Amino acid sequence: MLSPSNPIPVYAQSDFAALHKAGALAAAILDRITPFVVPGVTTGQLDERIHRDILESRAIPATIGYRGYTKATCISVNHVVCHGIPGEKALVEGDIVNIDVTVIVDGWYGDTSRMYLVGEKIPAKSRKLVEVTYDAMMAGIEAVKPGATLGDIGHAIQNYAEGNRFSVVRDFCGHGIGRVFHSGQILHYGRPGTGTVLEQGMVFTIEPMINAGTWQVKVLNDGWTAVTRDRQPSAQFEHMVGVTETGVEIFTLSPAGYTKPPYSL
Ligand code: MF3
Ligand code: CO
Ligand code: CO
Repeated sequence: MLSPSNPIPVYAQSDFAALHKAGALAAAILDRITPFVVPGVTTGQLDERIHRDILESRAIPATIGYRGYTKATCISVNHVVCHGIPGEKALVEGDIVNIDVTVIVDGWYGDTSRMYLVGEKIPAKSRKLVEVTYDAMMAGIEAVKPGATLGDIGHAIQNYAEGNRFSVVRDFCGHGIGRVFHSGQILHYGRPGTGTVLEQGMVFTIEPMINAGTWQVKVLNDGWTAVTRDRQPSAQFEHMVGVTETGVEIFTLSPAGYTKPPYSL
């Protein structure tokens, strides 16, 4: 998400349980949609199902009403980089799809996204892109600890992605989160040792968008849908993390144990 350059929020250790609860619900919702991400389903149907799940879980969909957005999720297929608006589009065999959900639980935001593979016959490049994007996100997360810098995170992601001959999207970034949706920017590229120094209690997302071709994107006339300029595929995963005394805690781990697809039901 492109965010204003506010500070990254810092929370007390005693707030981490609430962050965990919000993050775990968002992750559980992504777990529960998994069996429905199949050929023929429309992105609008997936969004409606998730919207219902959020309400039945007594949470609030954070994206509805956010800067005029009207859906409970963003669903981004193939060359859509992020902020795909759910609608009439039906998924087909071979698509790679990101579903991004943000919930509010007791005033705390939980934000996570994952890739899904539609059917069995996934083009080799798309499959590799999904793998590398997940591993790039995890490389960024592994760089998180007190005393490290935001540049260390960005570098770890960029180094991994570019080492696999993919590119890192520049126009959107991770963000501080907690009692607010977006505060501060977490770039997914950078130089080691540069930028803000991480301190215990900082809470933010790491959500790299990695492209098979050029990193350049454009936003469609709907004002939201970001697509790759060369129409090659793009992938994204998003976790929400907190800086602990010694390292990092991931708030959005999948309760079902899903990491990268294919997910075993
Ligand atoms: N969940 C997205 C993020 O990771 C934000 C989506 S805002 C929306 O920051 F309005 F597009 F839904
Ligand atoms: Co986010
Ligand atoms: Co998100």
